Amino acid sequence: MYLKNRCVLVTGGAHRVGKAITMRLAKMGADTIIFTYNSSEEAAKITEYELSEFCPQAMAIRCDQSDISQIRLTMETIKERFGRLDVLVNSASVFLSAKFDTVTEDDWNTVMNVNARGPFFFMQMAAPLMKVNGAGCIINIIDESVQKPALSWIHHGASKSALWNLTKSAAIALAPDIRVNAILPGAVLKPPDWTDERWERNINTIPLRRMGSAEDVCKAVEFIIQSDFVTGQAIVVDGGSTVL
Ligand SMILES: NC(=O)c1ccc[n+]([C@@H]2O[C@H](COP(=O)([O-])OP(=O)(O)OC[C@H]3O[C@@H](n4cnc5c(N)ncnc54)[C@H](OP(=O)(O)O)[C@@H]3O)[C@@H](O)[C@H]2O)c1
Repeated sequence: MYLKNRCVLVTGGAHRVGKAITMRLAKMGADTIIFTYNSSEEAAKITEYELSEFCPQAMAIRCDQSDISQIRLTMETIKERFGRLDVLVNSASVFLSAKFDTVTEDDWNTVMNVNARGPFFFMQMAAPLMKVNGAGCIINIIDESVQKPALSWIHHGASKSALWNLTKSAAIALAPDIRVNAILPGAVLKPPDWTDERWERNINTIPLRRMGSAEDVCKAVEFIIQSDFVTGQAIVVDGGSTVL
């Protein structure tokens, strides 16, 4: 029960990987779980209900994190309602495909604002609330693409690389009270618009010869929360694909 009496926030926690992380934090004993959603209101209600089975206080907050004022409002709500924050997991992200010569200015701005600027301001605004109790843990869910060019998702790769750099900067800026680490998943959950065939083709690029799962990411989340002497690091959860 590492998270007994702790308050945690997961962005993009209504469904998919973010939901798996949210449920894992509940099972780790967190008393208060807040998660954000943007468009998935129905899924958010279901997750909020499922969480209530495990933890005394569960709360979904709608927050479009491409808008800094909504991030500020979210953090003010947490401060007023709960007065503390112990763990922040930045999981929300957009995954838009575009190549070097096709990326548009609008897509560039959306991807950078949701995937890099939003998580940064969540970290910046979470820090004072974490320092109230002298400790905190921030985990940024990034992407294996920071280790290699992402030719079909060029702005996505740039946004995730920015977040990896910000992770290391924040680890230094917020030490010694707050630890900041990253998880770099490979293929762990099929994008909704991909066919099974397209997804399974990835197996050929994975030395461990299986697709990953949201649970694989959750194990890394749990490891980081428990590892008091780890900051500024990334755990790559990709079955070895980036070593090839
Ligand atoms: N799935 C994979 O195999 C994989 C691989 C590598 C890295 N990752 C990383 O792991 C994390 C979770 O992956 P996933 O596949 O579960 O992601 P996903 O399906 O793309 O989910 C994205 C989440 O982000 C939220 N989101 C999108 N735009 C938002 C906005 N403007 N404001 C606030 N929230 C917004 C969505 O909320 P709503 O639905 O409520 O709009 C959703 O909960 C992401 O950071 C992703 O980059 C995943």
